[in-house]
Amino acid sequence: MIFGATGDLAKRKLFPSLYRLFERGRLEKFAVIGVARRTLDNDDFQQSVKDSVLSALGEKGNLDEFVSHFYYQAHDVADSSSYTSLRKFANQIDENYQLDGNRIFYLAMAPEFFGPIALHLKSDGLTEVKGYKRLVIEKPFGHDLESAKELNKQIRSAFSEKEVYRIDHYLGKEMVRNIEVIRFANAIFEPLWNNKYISNIQITSSETLGVEERGRYYETSGALRDMLQNHMMQMVALLAMEPPIKLTTDEIRSEKVRVFRALRTIEGDKVNDYFVRGQYGEGTIGGKKAPKYRDEPMVDKESNTETFVAGKIKIDNFRWAGVPFYIRTGKRMAAKSTKIVVQFKDIPMNLYYQTEKMLNPNLLVIHIQPEEGITLHLNAKKAGGHLDAQEVKLSFANTGSNAMNTPEGYEKLLYDCMRGDATNFTHWDEVAYSWAFVDKISEVWENSKADSFPNYQSGTMGPKAADELLEKDGYFWWPVGDLEVDICK
Ligand code: BG6
Repeated sequence: MIFGATGDLAKRKLFPSLYRLFERGRLEKFAVIGVARRTLDNDDFQQSVKDSVLSALGEKGNLDEFVSHFYYQAHDVADSSSYTSLRKFANQIDENYQLDGNRIFYLAMAPEFFGPIALHLKSDGLTEVKGYKRLVIEKPFGHDLESAKELNKQIRSAFSEKEVYRIDHYLGKEMVRNIEVIRFANAIFEPLWNNKYISNIQITSSETLGVEERGRYYETSGALRDMLQNHMMQMVALLAMEPPIKLTTDEIRSEKVRVFRALRTIEGDKVNDYFVRGQYGEGTIGGKKAPKYRDEPMVDKESNTETFVAGKIKIDNFRWAGVPFYIRTGKRMAAKSTKIVVQFKDIPMNLYYQTEKMLNPNLLVIHIQPEEGITLHLNAKKAGGHLDAQEVKLSFANTGSNAMNTPEGYEKLLYDCMRGDATNFTHWDEVAYSWAFVDKISEVWENSKADSFPNYQSGTMGPKAADELLEKDGYFWWPVGDLEVDICK
């Protein structure tokens, strides 16, 4: 059951992803009930599903068969009688398709409806099923720790923690899932993966898009809540966690939670030493002029909302003491790119020179998007030279995965949910700890006006202060453009 079936997410991500699962034979017995406010008949709904698949994936042969599994119900989320008729309809569909009473509720809706819908699903009997029941919810999961707790309480009165699948679409990305394998399946990395050998880790997720028509939401969110609290923190946890004793959902999640528990709290006066906020001004991206954030629709002309954040995260445990994790994310930056750079410490004594420069440090670059792969930066002898060293790169590219065209992990996440595998969804404890961390930063930022806004030009890599954040520790951001993986065709 997809709540919000006429919305953007359903059209852009969910229908194409369901189609891909269908095409791969991963949906055998299934039916989808699209639920939304507006009145629509089944034929029109099926046509809209078809259109969304066509526009995402192009012409497909068995589309008619696929869309014949889709039904539509107009629905008022606040009205019990609406749920009662939905229940009857769902029971009927269950029987027709022999679904064994298994039911997934996907809330592709504005977050204020998550709690009320979950409560109605229970009180109006939709959760009384013979099989399994699962609730999938999109972000944002609350606005801060308090509101997240309240939302969780409402949801948990209808679903157990094991039945709640909180989506973080970064956990559907192929290379984010690969972090664990790269770390724990390679003898050459895991022994070095600690403060003895790693000097710092940098995670960049930059976007060229601006806020565009999402001004209303973004004004109350900002980059801190929109990207850092969830996607960036999840990547930190995967990079920093201890090896799980087994590859089970509970073991993996509990190792991630231990990372969150070890996060150093950054609060009060410390916030502006560890974190930098930015807001885009006018600029040029891809040869086109871009407006400043304050000129975007639904945005306050004096807005104090950050569209960029960079920060230094410290994990106070035995493995990571002393190693900064630098993160940065922002809108309207120079490139669309998500990359992780693990910078290893310099060797103790350097005997070689690279044309009068110091040796480059070893880097392990994990390319999350748009290209997917890993690159290891090493030093080797320059052919023909005396003992001059030069940097060489060993690259692996996930070719054939069609990275740019995949529905960004939704296909994998939907499939995981159907199989009952919650590993790549966020557990409540992870959500709570990361809100507690982020709340301390937003508290300071919301109570002090950023006089310098806008402080970076559209089409750049953010404000100068983000560079200074690393410079004062003796580092610099590895430029994302120079770290491209060589895609082997
Ligand atoms: C979403 C944010 O969660 O992630 C958006 O709300 C952002 O603001 C998007 O653009 C980025 O996702 P991706 O997959 O394009 O990096």
